[in-house]
Amino acid sequence: MKLKLKIWRQAGPNVAGKLVEYAADHVSPDMSFLEMLDVVNEGLIKQGQDAIAFDSDCREGICGMCSLVVNGIPHGPDRGTTVCQLHMRRFKDGDTVTIEPWRAKAFPVVKDLVVDRSAFDRIIAAGGYVSVNAGGAPYGNAILVPKAIAETAMDSAACIACGACVAACKNASAHLFMSAKISQLSLLPQGQPERRARVTAMIAQADSEGFGSCSNEGECEAVCPKEIPISNIARMTREYWRAQFSSR
Ligand code: SF4
Ligand code: FES
Repeated sequence: MKLKLKIWRQAGPNVAGKLVEYAADHVSPDMSFLEMLDVVNEGLIKQGQDAIAFDSDCREGICGMCSLVVNGIPHGPDRGTTVCQLHMRRFKDGDTVTIEPWRAKAFPVVKDLVVDRSAFDRIIAAGGYVSVNAGGAPYGNAILVPKAIAETAMDSAACIACGACVAACKNASAHLFMSAKISQLSLLPQGQPERRARVTAMIAQADSEGFGSCSNEGECEAVCPKEIPISNIARMTREYWRAQFSSR
């Protein structure tokens, strides 16, 4: 296949960026989207040009590093899939593909398609942990947790902190990301001692980072590669109000 690519190029955080056109020839339908970009980069390097910067690590949908908006959709057109697992067979010969970084005030562009997501680390550092000694696996198994609760907590723990939910939201809200961690820990016995302080601290940190609020439109859920449900945001809101009233 031959494709026309329009890729966001930006030399650094404080300079203007723009979409630049590139031709991608000899694209195999079996290539992954990131392999296609690797081939484009090899061509640029051979011509002595600056390679296009983009993030990736595992390329297996596990680490949450890949972060491209493809034709306006964070992680591209396949639902429940990271962009590293998107394949070129999803496109047709002659297609034009626009590739941009996550766009949010709290995720400043570092270079080209790479954004700084350390704001998520600071939210987790504010409260997304348990400080009780949970012991090893045998001790964990000694605390009985009803199966339905264990499964809901496990589904919430599937969040890979990629930030696609923020990129999709018109308010650049981090609510789906925060609600996944808050749900996971508020459902489990180990998360109870810090339950009220956690939700208050994480939401305060998100506000100070410049993330917006939630207006319940569901774009976050639609693009989440781990299909974290928006019902977690309702649970987080209940946790938040319970914490505010109980602290008075
Ligand atoms: S909730 Fe989904 S989209 Fe948001 S950071 Fe977690 S895995 Fe990524
Ligand atoms: S590179 Fe690890 S999830 Fe995509």
